[in-house]
Amino acid sequence: MKITIFGTGYVGLTQAACFAEVGHSVCCVDIDSARVSRLNAGHSPIFEPGLEALIQTNLAAKRISFTVDATQGIDYAEIIFIAVGTPPGEDGGADLKQVFSVADAIAAYATSAKIIINKSTSPVGTAQRIKARVNEGLARRHLALDMRVVSNPEFLKEGSAVEDCMRPERIIIGIDDQAGIDIFRELYKPFSRNHDKLIVMDSRSAELTKYAANSMLATKISFINEMANLAERLGADIEMVRKGIGSDSRIGYDFIYAGCGYGGSCFPKDIQALRRTAAEVGYEPHLLDAVEAVNHKQKHKLFENISKHYHDDVSGKTFAVWGLSFKPNTDDMREAPSRVLLESLWNAGARVQAYDPEAMNEARRIYGERSDLVLAGSKESAVEKAHALVILTEWRNFRIADFDELKAKLIDQVIFDGRNLFEPSRVKQAGLSYYPIGRTV
Ligand code: UGA
Repeated sequence: MKITIFGTGYVGLTQAACFAEVGHSVCCVDIDSARVSRLNAGHSPIFEPGLEALIQTNLAAKRISFTVDATQGIDYAEIIFIAVGTPPGEDGGADLKQVFSVADAIAAYATSAKIIINKSTSPVGTAQRIKARVNEGLARRHLALDMRVVSNPEFLKEGSAVEDCMRPERIIIGIDDQAGIDIFRELYKPFSRNHDKLIVMDSRSAELTKYAANSMLATKISFINEMANLAERLGADIEMVRKGIGSDSRIGYDFIYAGCGYGGSCFPKDIQALRRTAAEVGYEPHLLDAVEAVNHKQKHKLFENISKHYHDDVSGKTFAVWGLSFKPNTDDMREAPSRVLLESLWNAGARVQAYDPEAMNEARRIYGERSDLVLAGSKESAVEKAHALVILTEWRNFRIADFDELKAKLIDQVIFDGRNLFEPSRVKQAGLSYYPIGRTV
């Protein structure tokens, strides 16, 4: 099938590469010409395992192409995906400017009927607004084309986007007029290997499903972080509690790891947007408010532990930081807990020597050259002449540490661990002070 996708960010690009890989022909449109040139040369603008290889194979097979020309993209296919950004607006709600500008382009240039599929995370009612907007635009051109608008939210995770896209747990199709649903079965057939993954519903329910899923996951994280804070005060071990509750299949083991808070481009933004939607319909979302408040506090937790240890005086100290990205397998530092920590340390007069396997360029881009930040070449060099070590991201190669070496290198012999990577007894045995999250040492 022929498909056009507007937007070559995480969602659009991954989906495009996966559609091409299973045999569809995909035309990607983006307004960023430098990005389009890089993509046409086979370079992925984002670090995502497996993505660049897919782009290269499918460019060679001529199943994927990239252009800045919206008209070309609109002419190319009957099926047009919108996968552009919906960043937070000033009021916390999702800013739909980019979504509507694609809708306007379709209204301005389409010469035949289209199926417009919105993949961008957008508030309830957006599919219907897109439809109204496209029809108004067409009316101005005195055209009456059959434009169907469908909501098809995306559930991929950064770091495993290709895998999630290739093997989705469900494919949500939000369609108000269910005639013609077969086209989606055909489109997604290669991804529904064992059983039909399509869940068909109306567009408003599909849009709310996306926000509800992310809110539920964020709620699990804030819940376990609250339990961790209680465990610390009660002399209990959150790791034991996690295993104890996770074994209940109604609760499950996933997403109940205590830590230094959730970050990324999705949870913080989506929770804010849903709170905004709730306010618009006169509903006070107490639980979502609490999820966000707990997370905000949790992002300050490591600095609180550091301040406690150093009796509120860290000026002149050097902190080795392992991990800058908001989670492993990405270079993304949006809303990352590391940013809260770095900025708190700098405000308090401390220096930072940071290492991250992928996010060094991103850190350089965000913070530039500064005398209180050294971007170290390895996890080992980050701890050279540092007073203490702080762990922010659970990258796989941080899980094995040579405690004797750390003891020899860290001037104050202390580790603040925001991801509970080590067994407290083991660190203690090595003669280091250890501050995990929600665990007794
Ligand atoms: C999230 C959702 O998991 C995806 O399903 C969704 O499609 C995506 O948002 C989106 O809306 O586009 P992502 O933001 O890539 O994906 O990252 P997650 O793997 O969900 O992690 C989010 C944050 O939660 C990270 O900072 C992670 O460290 C933290 N986390 C996760 C915890 O603190 N504890 C846990 O147990 C799990």
